[in-house]
Amino acid sequence: MRDLDVLLQEHRTFPPPAGFRERARVADPALLARAAEDPEGFWAGEAAALQWDAPWDTVLRWTPPHARWFEGGRLNAAVNCVDRHLDGPRRNKAALIWEGEPGDRRTLTYWDLYREVNVAASMLRHLGVRRGDRVAIYMPLVPEAVVAMLACARIGAVHTVVFGGFSPESLRDRINDCGCTVLITADGGYRRGAVVPLKRNADAALAECPTVKHVLVVRRVGGTGPGEAHAQMVEGRDHWWHELAAQVPAECAPESMEAEDLLFILYTSGTTGKPKGIVHTTGGYLTGAAATMKLVFDLREEDVYWCTADIGWITGHSYLVYGPLANGATCLLYEGAPDWPAPDRFWALCARHGVTIFYTAPTAIRAFMKWGDHHVAKHDLSRLRLLGSVGEPINPEAWMWYHQVVGRARCPIVDTWWQTETGAIMITPLPGVTTTKPGSATHPFPGVRAALLDSAGAEVPVGGGLLAITHPWPSMLRTIWGDDARYVSTYFSKWPGRPDLYFPGDGAKKDEDGYLWILGRVDDVLNVAGHRIGTMEVESALVDHPAVAEAAVVGRTHELKGQAIAAFVTLRAGQHPSGTLRDDLREHVARKIGALARPDDVLFSADLPKTRSGKIMRRLLRDIAEGRALGDTTTLADPAVVASLKDQYEAQEG
Ligand code: WT7
Repeated sequence: MRDLDVLLQEHRTFPPPAGFRERARVADPALLARAAEDPEGFWAGEAAALQWDAPWDTVLRWTPPHARWFEGGRLNAAVNCVDRHLDGPRRNKAALIWEGEPGDRRTLTYWDLYREVNVAASMLRHLGVRRGDRVAIYMPLVPEAVVAMLACARIGAVHTVVFGGFSPESLRDRINDCGCTVLITADGGYRRGAVVPLKRNADAALAECPTVKHVLVVRRVGGTGPGEAHAQMVEGRDHWWHELAAQVPAECAPESMEAEDLLFILYTSGTTGKPKGIVHTTGGYLTGAAATMKLVFDLREEDVYWCTADIGWITGHSYLVYGPLANGATCLLYEGAPDWPAPDRFWALCARHGVTIFYTAPTAIRAFMKWGDHHVAKHDLSRLRLLGSVGEPINPEAWMWYHQVVGRARCPIVDTWWQTETGAIMITPLPGVTTTKPGSATHPFPGVRAALLDSAGAEVPVGGGLLAITHPWPSMLRTIWGDDARYVSTYFSKWPGRPDLYFPGDGAKKDEDGYLWILGRVDDVLNVAGHRIGTMEVESALVDHPAVAEAAVVGRTHELKGQAIAAFVTLRAGQHPSGTLRDDLREHVARKIGALARPDDVLFSADLPKTRSGKIMRRLLRDIAEGRALGDTTTLADPAVVASLKDQYEAQEG
């Protein structure tokens, strides 16, 4: 958690810049007051901006903790993101401007997108996909990834996108959890000049995925040499995207979906070893994504918008695909790394494509700071007018750098707090009306009701507490796929007798002016470079290694990544600590889960600090990893263990 003292000293304020407020989508704070009084009215107004096949009967049916929004209404998300823009000047407007890491480029207008989505939808139908079936997407950030998501939406199939950096095992578990019948992947993707062998990973996963009948493979790297080897096509199961595309009808009629029909499942980590399949539905999700896109980013027709997230995360779903496209925006997509071939790649992209709105993560901002201002300064960023931050708390220093060096002190910054589960931005400035403070996500979005509560459920007017969302919102998760009991216990059981209070797992602070400062997770979930990783997942991967007897994983503060992963490991009899074993364990975790879960520190220990009932005391391990004085050790079975661990850790660091 962030240092409260540092935040308490942050008193700088930034009102909307001159000239911004006058032209802003939201310039009148009265909107907030109206929405606070009548959230359902506000959301119904936003939902009405979408195209519906049939109107809803009820805005909200709330049987805590289960919500149904816009019941009776029917719509199609892909039609809202594509077809709807074809009767008018947006038809020939760029929907996607794409740049691959090697520098290849493609632009798809809304009309191009329409044709591609139709063909892809036809291919899925041809492969037997029907309304309600699950389709996995494991792709690099190429236009086909967006097309694949929209193609699923068009035929009412439920997509589950798995980040391309995840391991075959992680892909396998997600496919099996929701029983996907088709997988869409690519032969590979580019990352830092190398090919990520997606098809080979997919094949390894599919060896244990009995439900998958067909694989659709985009040719991304083939023909360029080594890439060819990455796609061994399995006869009858695997189909090249470009070959099948030539054989199916060019048009594919959309399914008219119920508002509460599933749009997608996206897996995210929790406090157990098993990721949760977060379920989002059609009408409410699209309403939330579209409304926040328009109002938080102050979207205008001529904007060129760039969100640097990958489609494997919720940010990619809501602010790369559904939010911007539902608003008819022009989006930039970039496949690769921010420092490839040089640390100015992002700024070169902004300048070349005239980016006006830029949305990225604090971890990236801190890396840019480290790489040096000159990489930013040498590019023309004069088109930029709004900056966004998401994924983790942004430290005031990074905020100020973003404001001064990237925004040239002209652009408002929206620090947006939300989660995979919330579907859309929940706590955020509105750039035309909110005076921002560096490091504060400020206030709830219109129609969102949030409060700071203590563990007994009493409201904390000023000071630290637990963040709670106290009223349902349209883009909220509806359940966890296949495990509604876990939905109830994880999110709606924090305050006994109050199944109406959503607990996001974050701690926060409210200052004297009523501003919210998100402090970070209060559960056993880490946020490493803006990505959520459960300590239990890393622990299970470690104990899966033959040399490991027991493992405990905690987070520690990391200058760039926000948090780093520290693992404390005891070995089986006959195994001995060594540098080689340490490297081997780190690689083992990367192979089991994905590179993003690779531990930064591995400390071998003869024993772990436990209570007399055998529970590992992570609190003390966190103290050790942070290099802090040890907290209360009186409940330990053997206090000597923790003292010796601390000495070892410090010896290793030093
Ligand atoms: C967790 C959600 C939502 C997109 C990316 C992450 C942290 C997210 C902020 C922010 C402070 C933030 C929270 C949250 N978080 N945005 N602006 N300020 N913390 O999605 O993987 O679902 O993680 O990210 O801890 O609970 P996610």
